[in-house]
This record gives sequence, C-alpha cells and structure tokens, in this order.
Amino acid sequence: MNELKESGFDAAKTVENGNKYLLGNGYLGYRGTLDEFGASECVGLNIAGKYDGVKGKWRETVNAFNPFYMAAYAGGIALDAREKNVAFHEVALDIFSGLFKRKTVFDVNGTSVTLKCERFVNMASKSNLCSRVIITADKDIRLNIKAGVDTDIWELNGPHFKDVKTKISGDTITASGTTQELGYRISVECKYSQRIENFSGGFGYINADIKKGEKFVLDRVAFVLFGEENADGESYDDKLKSHLKEWERLWSISRVYFKDDKRAQFALDYSIYHLLILAPKGEYSIAARGLSGQTYKGAVFWDTEIFMLPFFLNTLPDCAKNLIKYRINTLPEAKKKAQSYGYGGAFYAWESQDGYDACSDFNVTDVFTHRPVRTYFKDKQIHISADVAYAILKYYEHTGDDELMLAGGLETVLECAEFARTYSYYNHVKDRYELLDVIGPDEYHERVNNNAYTNYIFYNITKRGVELYEKFKKAYPESAVKKLKEWVEKLYLPKPDKNGVIEQFDGYFKLEDVEVEEVRSRLKHPNEYWGGSGGVATATRVIKQADVIMLFNLYPGLFSKEVQKANYEFYLPYTEHGSSLSHCAYALTACRIGKTDGAYKAFMDSAEIDLKGGGKQWAGEIYIGGTHPAASGGAWMTAVYGFGCNKEKK
Ligand code: BGC
Repeated sequence: MNELKESGFDAAKTVENGNKYLLGNGYLGYRGTLDEFGASECVGLNIAGKYDGVKGKWRETVNAFNPFYMAAYAGGIALDAREKNVAFHEVALDIFSGLFKRKTVFDVNGTSVTLKCERFVNMASKSNLCSRVIITADKDIRLNIKAGVDTDIWELNGPHFKDVKTKISGDTITASGTTQELGYRISVECKYSQRIENFSGGFGYINADIKKGEKFVLDRVAFVLFGEENADGESYDDKLKSHLKEWERLWSISRVYFKDDKRAQFALDYSIYHLLILAPKGEYSIAARGLSGQTYKGAVFWDTEIFMLPFFLNTLPDCAKNLIKYRINTLPEAKKKAQSYGYGGAFYAWESQDGYDACSDFNVTDVFTHRPVRTYFKDKQIHISADVAYAILKYYEHTGDDELMLAGGLETVLECAEFARTYSYYNHVKDRYELLDVIGPDEYHERVNNNAYTNYIFYNITKRGVELYEKFKKAYPESAVKKLKEWVEKLYLPKPDKNGVIEQFDGYFKLEDVEVEEVRSRLKHPNEYWGGSGGVATATRVIKQADVIMLFNLYPGLFSKEVQKANYEFYLPYTEHGSSLSHCAYALTACRIGKTDGAYKAFMDSAEIDLKGGGKQWAGEIYIGGTHPAASGGAWMTAVYGFGCNKEKK
C-alpha cells in the first residue's frame, strides 16, 4: 500500500487530518488541510527552528503565511467540501512520493464539477512548496477563483507578524511580515500559472469559462524566504521531478521490510515517512511534534536524541551529525542554565529553542481552577543532559568521528557529567553520591530521589566520557576529569530487589498499590492532569511512561534477561502510556525477553499513533496535539533492534 486514503468529508476530523496528512521536507511542514480552509481549520505552514515570542505568551515556532489558499466558484456556487452539494470527497497521502491529493466532486445545479488538487513540499529544496489544482465539469461552466497568500494564519500564541504586506508583481503574489521578537523578515512568494485579472485585499482573482471535459489547471510554485534568499523560475513539473527523485533516493536507503504483514508494513512505512519529512537540512534539530504545528512550542526534547537519532544514524548519518551539532552548538546556553541554578557543567534545556529553555515554570493549567500549576520539568528533569551525552556517545560509536569528538563532542559529554557531579549530594552515612530532587522520564512523580534511570545513565556517560578522555587527552581540563573519575565510582546505583525489580526511585514501592484503570476512574475531568502536587497518580504507583524500562533499552547488556522480565511484568500494569514515548519502550524490552505478543501490540500502538489520531490531546488546559515523531522513531527501533535482532536461535 502506497497511500493513506479517506473518503467522505467529516468536519470533526479537520484537526486530526491536518496531522495525519502532513507534508514536510525537514524544514517546512504543511498540514493536510483543504484549499478552501483558513486559520480556523488549523491550516499551518510550520517552519523548523524559527521562533518568536509575543509578550506575555509562550514562545513558539512561527507558521508562515499560507500560499495555497483558494476559494473556487463554479456557476456562482462555492466549491467547498463543507457544503451540501458534495457528491464525492477523498483525500490521500502518497507516503512514497510525499504527495497530498484531494478530489471532490460537486453537484452544481445539475452540472458535475470535479476539483482535484496535488500538493508537495519539495524534498529536494529547503524553501519550496507547490500545488496543482485541476477543475473539470461535465457541462460548460464559468469559474471564478479567489486565491492568494493568506495572512490570516493559525497561531497558538501569536500574532507573530507585524508590518504584514501583500503585493502582486506580474503573476506572483507575495505576503511578507516581520516577526515580533527577533525581527525576521519572512516572505511567502507564490507564482501562478494563470493570469491574475484583479488583485485586491491581498487576493488575486482569476476567471475562466471551461468547456465540457476541458481541464482548468492552476499551478502554484511557492517559496518561504528569509531576507536575502530568492525564488527561482522553475515550473511545477520541474519541481515535481526533483522532489520525486529525492523521495526515491530516501526510500532506497531507509525502507525496512516485514514479511507477510501488510498492516505492520504500512504502519512502519508511515512512521519512516514521518521521520524522513523531519530530516533536518542544516544544524538544527527536530521538535517534539515535528512540523505539524506550534504545539509544545516547537521545542526540542530528549525525544530526538533517544527516540529518533537511531533512525538517522543508520540511514542519514549527515542528518544525525546535524542533530548532534545542534546540541554541541547550544552548549554555552546549557552551561548558563546550570549556572543559573547554582551548578557547574551543562544543564540542557528541557524544551530547547536553540538552547533557550522554553519550558515554563507553570507548564500545566488546572482544569478546575484554571490557574497555572507549578511544574518542575525545567528545573528537575536533569536526565536531559545525560540523554544528550548518551546521543553523542552513540553517534561516536556508530561513526568513529574523532573530529566531532574533538570539536566539542567530548567536551559536551564531560560538561554533562560535570553538571551531575555538582548536582549530586554526598551521603556521609552511606559514603556515596546521590541524585536527589529530580524527575525521571515518568513526569507524574516530581522531585523524587535517586531515580534509577537518571543515576544509571549519568553513571554510564561519565564512565565512557572519562575513558574517551584517556584516548584523546584533549578537550577538557585533566583536573576536572580526575574529579569525575572519583565521583562516578561512588555514584549510587539502585540494584534489583529480591524479586529482580529495580525501584523507580526511593520510596516508590511504598506508594499506593493501584493500577491504571483504578486511577483513571478517580478522574473528575477527562483532561485533568495526573501528576504534579495533587494529581490522581501522584501518590500511587501509576506512572506516565516507561521509566526503568527505558534504561534497559539504552543499556540492554547491563541487566540479565530475568531482571528485564521481572521489571517489565512489574511496571506494565502501572504504566498509563500517557506519553507517546512509552509503548515503543515496552515493545523493545518485550522483544528482548521473548514477549512476542506484547511486543507486537506495543509496536503497533507506537507505529499507528498518528494513523489512528491517538495520543493525548490535552495536558490540563494546554493543547498538546500534533504528530508524534518519537513514537515513529520508537517504532523503527522496535522493528530493527527489536524484531530484527532478537530472533530466537534454533
Ligand atoms: C513526555 C516527555 C516528552 C514530551 C515531548 C511529555 O508528555 O512526558 O517525556 O519528552 O512529552 O514529547
């Protein structure tokens, strides 16, 4: 199966389909919406790594103006999928060629009018996207088209543009504006293949008489430009050619095959599609909701290093290098963050916008009181620094890129270790260092002590960082390395108990022993936040996402299969999977311990998350919907490292 397809129009699916049928080229993302849609239908042309903050609101990536707005009329009647005269409607996404297609047939007072659209975000370019609209009718009919670069755009925390201007020059319409905070001048330029007769209010008007069976074709070749960049004069067909060629190349190096399982094959292909449309075209990184919009502020989380990087390492190593360089380049901000809390080393942003931590101290709004809730993700989720270091080490293991290690890679690893050293507390009674007052991957339990995932990952990255220092003897002061060496030997590592289970954090076993459904039944509002100081899960063993289990995926050789099995069985009933990062973590561990059914189910839950429109849409009153690229990366890892590498030997 090449295409994702859906017939019939359902207004309730507008937001979900915007995500599901998303197009992208690693820099621009265009949501799967219809030509006649506007801001209220969440049309979005999201740009990677271009942030703007409006006073008093959250800083987020900007959505550019929409070059493909079009309101078409045949015989004076609107060709609009929301109207009653729709005889047939279908949208499709060809994931092997990155093409969005739409076909709608209208009954215009007895005349059958067909509107088709094909659209792509050019994979072979950074700034280009194209649309082709074809209209035909079974009787002669008059067409009137209003089209333009729509400046009324969907924004969560905007408006991000000031000095918005539209203009026409020959057959090209341009809208430009300046972002409020950093003053980027962004222009969206769109060249039309049809003559624009009038231009008013920012829109162009095209009129045509089409004969029965004749095709009216409108090609639009658009560019999202910053400052000095220029559009080129290539046609839709030229652009399509280079786009398709690039997609062919990408699939030739990235496809993974399932034997005799069409559903799993499509789910995995779809996951890979989502990773490919996010492959950075420069030294920037990937947002937690990809290019599907401004959710999660367009910020970069540990999702990229731990869940997506493996795919890029194995298929597009240059992209993997870009992802790593993004973290090396933002080391100065991470050092500043550590200093701001009184620590040494590098404390990476929990929600990174070019190194700036966009995570708010009040990241959730209470659904009952509508008041902001103090959350500690930014201050206490220290594992982010270890995740960054882990990714650099993984990159090195794959590539042997000494140069990058000497150009900031090793320094970053050691600065992350140094942060943990200065953050740690020396327990005189037990003669060991402990990491107190942290949040592990499970965000429902804040400010806990000795989270196993956090302690182990810092231990391992420090050990490896120190070893590599011995090899390079460069990139860091020797005295600092000596301190790290002594420290890491005394860093406390929680061990499996008599049942083989590792306690997620000190005191976890003493929490109320109830499972997920019981806790869910205690909710008084469907969007209530489960964690924080007063959440339904806080005083219980119920966790948001894989935590101890995640540790096994990073270091599968560190614990015996028996221990991994004991923890899998213990933690699974307590795991809500309230994060899209969770299913794949269980799937990977399940593969190692031979739980085939559990692995397959969790793999499908991960791979199909955006096909089913799943995942939580709300955290308290905050909208968190969009695509889930970490789940796509996790599905890929499960297929390759899980199903691919754990075949029982006969
Ligand atoms: C999860 C984090 C994740 C973030 C972005 C949160 O809900 O708890 O682990 O990094 O979403 O995907």
